[in-house]
Amino acid sequence: SFYTAFIEEQRYLLYLDGLKMTILVSVIAIIIGVVLGTLLALMRLTAEQKGKSTLLSKIAYVYIDIIRGTPTLTQLMIMYFVILKGQSGLLVGSLTFGLNSAAYVAEIIRAGIQAVDQGQMEGGRSLGLSYVQTMKDIILPQAIKNILPALGNEFIVLVKETSILGYVAIVDLTKVSDFVISRIFEALAPLLGTALIYYVIVKFLTLGLNALERRLRQSDRR
Ligand code: ARG
Repeated sequence: SFYTAFIEEQRYLLYLDGLKMTILVSVIAIIIGVVLGTLLALMRLTAEQKGKSTLLSKIAYVYIDIIRGTPTLTQLMIMYFVILKGQSGLLVGSLTFGLNSAAYVAEIIRAGIQAVDQGQMEGGRSLGLSYVQTMKDIILPQAIKNILPALGNEFIVLVKETSILGYVAIVDLTKVSDFVISRIFEALAPLLGTALIYYVIVKFLTLGLNALERRLRQSDRR
């Protein structure tokens, strides 16, 4: 049965390898996503500051437009078969999902900043602060409360979206259950196991994010 084989054939080692790939790709991708996404958001906001679109805001817009307008799976296949042909699965996966997530993160950050009342910028400026100072000391601390829940959601989406990695023969958690199913001709146990692992990962993320939000709200009341 699945259970004896799980132990005797050391099938859990396969699962551990898959889990490692899933977690590594997710973590590296969200780091790339947040760094590049912040940059893209700031590039888009230069249009706000100038009152008309700038070269930087146009470049950011085109990037976000293309990434959001095409399926992640197509992007993964382009990376795997063309741009990063022959590179390791970890590199292909992390870069694809990092570049993809950046587009979504950029919109989350831009929306979070723009949701802060216009008067806050005017207030900062009329106190003699520069645009950058006002942004850093007045706007961003407020924007973070709009940004954080959506960013957490993006991380959760990302973790689950990595399940398409197996499509290009990168062995993640989902691909491992695929292997195991074709090896033992039994689908229920391997799939339930995989589903449970994703669920536990997402649960930990959710709990961590809730704790972080609670702390932000507390420091808000002081
Ligand atoms: N699966 C959809 C796609 O391929 C949605 C991806 C959403 N990704 C995200 N990081 N929010 O386009």
